[in-house]
Amino acid sequence: MGCQYYAPADGGAQNFSVFMPRLTFGRGSLAELGIRCSELAFKRIALITDPALLDGPLVALARESLSSAGIDYAVHSEIRIEPCDDTIQASARFLQAGKFDAVVSLGGGSVIDSAKGALLLAAHGGTVRDYLAPPIGQGISVPGPVLPHIACPTTAGTGSECTPISVIRINEFETKFVVCSNYLMPTVAIVDPQCCDSLPERVVASSGFDLLSHALECFTARAYTRHSHVDNPAARLPIQGANPFSDMAAREALDIAGKYLVRGVRDSSDTSARDKLMWGATLAGMAFGNAGTHLPHALSYGVTHLMRDITTEGYPVPSPFVPHGISVIVTSPAVFRYTAEAAPARHLSAAAALGADQKGATPDDAGEVLAGRMIELMKDTGMPNGLGGVGFSEQHVSALAASAERQKRAISNAPRDSNRVDLENVYRAGLSYW
Ligand SMILES: [Fe+2]
Repeated sequence: MGCQYYAPADGGAQNFSVFMPRLTFGRGSLAELGIRCSELAFKRIALITDPALLDGPLVALARESLSSAGIDYAVHSEIRIEPCDDTIQASARFLQAGKFDAVVSLGGGSVIDSAKGALLLAAHGGTVRDYLAPPIGQGISVPGPVLPHIACPTTAGTGSECTPISVIRINEFETKFVVCSNYLMPTVAIVDPQCCDSLPERVVASSGFDLLSHALECFTARAYTRHSHVDNPAARLPIQGANPFSDMAAREALDIAGKYLVRGVRDSSDTSARDKLMWGATLAGMAFGNAGTHLPHALSYGVTHLMRDITTEGYPVPSPFVPHGISVIVTSPAVFRYTAEAAPARHLSAAAALGADQKGATPDDAGEVLAGRMIELMKDTGMPNGLGGVGFSEQHVSALAASAERQKRAISNAPRDSNRVDLENVYRAGLSYW
């Protein structure tokens, strides 16, 4: 197996690919937007953002940069948090009508994911459901390239600028599903930590746990050699399981989250910590875009499907709303207690990277050590105490598991197999932690 360390498995993949945009990171890099468009010979841009950002300084900076470079552009801001298939269809119509030669997305994960979905439908037609895996969708593979995409994140969590994945709520099912294709990888990512300077503490906390969970899930995902071999190399998807590249990015992201998450949440003036979290989010995105997430993200879609009468501080969104990072983290400690037995060394390494005290820990302690460190970070950043903290109780466990069970691709990327009863047990164990 050459230079890398995963053992081969019968019928398993023997190769992994690395999928990446061309990336620029650092304070002030958003001002380079116009130049980046010019060097790629773009003449007319669709600038996609959301209503909250539309009249703010970041969109103004992007407009100025495009204008200075002589780039023609039109703005589309009808993007909602947690975009749905109707939003994507409307955005695709905007792209089709505008005769653009590229798209710039400026916003959080919702904006970047909307741009990916709109690019797909604008180029190839159909509906979002056509491209979802069965039994929800038709399982149609994205047939070819879409317009170039420059992704500019304004939160430190999504990592979507480095993934070919779009998460879209399907209204008919009242929950989110994943569209994934190599063709949806942004062409260019511009990651400017300055974009996060004015984020409220609660947004930093939620998006920080999203990055932490991306890294943890990728690091503990099923090894790529345990996923089936794909005969056609062009059909090799980025959700390919843990591999040496994703491990490298995830391990560094975990180190950053362990050191800087609490600091970045507690002190909005701590730009050193917040800038590092932005880099951690990008690294975790690289991991996520090359390995795929597993149970915490699968279970989070059950949470957002069934949430009721819940509002969340720091977000201008009506009830019911649980921010993505919180929907992920409320079950994560219970998930890792469950998955640790399948890969104890990996869980212990992840805990060590997060800064856990693991003196004397044995493989049997791996789940507890990792869950303990996560719970410590949750308490230190004012996270809800498990599912109970976002309005769920024992009576909801069965429906949550039935909802999450539909996320087959993510569930099959976990290191340990699970059935409906296992999912119910994990949700039950995640009702409260302290
Ligand atoms: Fe996420």
